[in-house]
Amino acid sequence: MKSLLSHKTNSINGTITIPGDKSISQRALILSSVAIGTSEIYGLSFSEDILDLIKNLKLLGVNIIVKKEKVIIKGNGINGLKKTNNILHMGNSGTATRLMMGILSNQDFATKITGDKSLNKRPMDRIIDPLIKMGAEIKSNNNKLPITLRGVSETLPIKYVLPIPSAQVKSCILFASLGTPGITTVIENILTRNHTEILLKLFGAKINIKKEKKRNLIELQGQKDLIGTNINICGDTSSAAIVGAAALLNQNSQLKIKNVNINKTRNTFFKVLKQMNANICFSNKKKKSNEDVADITFKSSKLKGIHLKKETVTGMIDEIPIFSVLASFASGNSSFSGGKELRYKESDRINSIYKGLLACKAQVKKKGDGLIIKGKKNDIYGNSKIKTYFDHRIAMSFLIMGTAAKKTIKIDDGNCIKTSFPNFVNLMNNIGAKIK
Ligand code: S3P
Repeated sequence: MKSLLSHKTNSINGTITIPGDKSISQRALILSSVAIGTSEIYGLSFSEDILDLIKNLKLLGVNIIVKKEKVIIKGNGINGLKKTNNILHMGNSGTATRLMMGILSNQDFATKITGDKSLNKRPMDRIIDPLIKMGAEIKSNNNKLPITLRGVSETLPIKYVLPIPSAQVKSCILFASLGTPGITTVIENILTRNHTEILLKLFGAKINIKKEKKRNLIELQGQKDLIGTNINICGDTSSAAIVGAAALLNQNSQLKIKNVNINKTRNTFFKVLKQMNANICFSNKKKKSNEDVADITFKSSKLKGIHLKKETVTGMIDEIPIFSVLASFASGNSSFSGGKELRYKESDRINSIYKGLLACKAQVKKKGDGLIIKGKKNDIYGNSKIKTYFDHRIAMSFLIMGTAAKKTIKIDDGNCIKTSFPNFVNLMNNIGAKIK
């Protein structure tokens, strides 16, 4: 455990870039590994989750060369991973676990998978159920890790309506359907991040997306080789949200974050910020590997409270911790509801945010799968010690709270930040934060 202390700062200023998007990095590595030919990935995140995934793909026989500016991967083909007697240790990453289980369903051998303390508590029935329908044999510890998965060379086609809004489940099924003779259809009633669909197209998969009222029907024709390609990964939306929030909360601040992913299935938080009266603007908009990218400037703001509904929460599921911190400084009340999925993240985030805000003497109440937060306008007291529960987003969000609270905020463990953003503390201190 490595505690970190965040002191009130004067201002947050600078022009920076942040690490590559973690969701896209995971998908780019996995798809390159099962494509035919060579792929080059630029701007990959080098967080712990990604390093763990690279290690596991190498154990499965993939040739991956990591250079300073790019990662080169020679793919093995859809069914071409090699059996390993090692247990795949997925570290802290629910995304890598669920996506890899889709790919392993197409391999004609058994693989053992486990994770760290936090990951081994997370539910896997959400992917075990559809993967068994597709032909995989799965033994689990009561629907949790450790899991042994035996794949088949031809998975079966299914038509699957997602029972929960989850990009991980959608992507797992689409990855498993790469080896399916015939068409697999995934239907999502609430839209989730679509990086898998974008990348599958880039790799030449036969994927077709139909819009039907508010829902999406995603059809994938399996057994078509993916062709290696070059991918440029932009900055991580969720990391930008956390760093940018520090500039909104502090006086005399102006922070430009360059090259951030603003894909419409990821930018809900920024839309909500505008409604909260945040001073943010987008410039230099462009496309990178078919993803929307922009530079975002965050300036000191007088935020006002807002009430979020379930669909909005789904669109900013990873930003709810930092949203809650901002809401505590806003004028008026804020709330969110319908956030059941928050309970299954790296920690039960409704509980960890609630406990953390209480420790900072913010005014917060639990209501169902949500919170009601009474704004305090720059009057957050601090002098608190926060339990992070091995959750990187809780750790970073409360360190940001410490940049603007009257007294210091201490988090019990900063090690977990490495899973997504290893240089977070250095980067924050370089733009004016005081985190030790
Ligand atoms: C992710 C999807 C989301 C998100 C997670 C990354 C992804 O999870 O919370 O951090 O890369 O697909 P769910 O699909 O479980 O909502």
